[in-house]
Amino acid sequence: MSFTVAIDGPAAAGKGTISKAVARHFGFAHLDTGLLYRAVGKRVLDGEDAVAAARSLRAEDLEVLGLRTPKVAQAASKVAVEPEVREALVDFQRAFAARAGGAVLDGRDIGTVICPEAAVKLFVTASPEVRAVRRHKELLETGHDAGYDSVLADVRARDERDRTRATAPLKPADDAVTIDTSHMTIEAAVAAAVAVVNKVR
Ligand code: C5P
Repeated sequence: MSFTVAIDGPAAAGKGTISKAVARHFGFAHLDTGLLYRAVGKRVLDGEDAVAAARSLRAEDLEVLGLRTPKVAQAASKVAVEPEVREALVDFQRAFAARAGGAVLDGRDIGTVICPEAAVKLFVTASPEVRAVRRHKELLETGHDAGYDSVLADVRARDERDRTRATAPLKPADDAVTIDTSHMTIEAAVAAAVAVVNKVR
């Protein structure tokens, strides 16, 4: 039987780390759905049409290098506003969620739109300043030297676009458990997420 864990939240709140750790802990498969939008965003930067790119997207496209840059993130959040792009990516995500053995999907609309029947829904968040500090550090570590102020401005711009779009805006599902990681260690945040899953498992 399938068991889906939906993890939503804004950029750099710790969703990715928590999702990977929860998947590892329970032996579930993991899909970072942001990569779908990033892959489409990257193709748009390369000159393709967004809807055509979304419709022809394959699993291999998620392995493409260079999806983790700030430029691609901004392009992703722009294509993510388009209802036809989102629609084209639904089946892939639902098929992943339905796989036997359990699945963790993280994104913005997993608990609200993609998997409204998920067994567990988490909303992982943190203050914009804390998220900008984390993202800034990550970028420095991977050789992208953007200043903190510009990273914070990027985080805020992406939050604004993700929260205010008409289709599938970023928001917690009514039945989601919120984990605010602003003042938590990674270990504590992972333990909190594992505890929520264990309650319903
Ligand atoms: O999570 P990540 O930062 O990789 O996502 C990049 C962008 O893709 C987000 O800013 C958001 O606009 C979009 N996205 C989305 N729905 C998802 C996952 C990501 O709209 N489920």
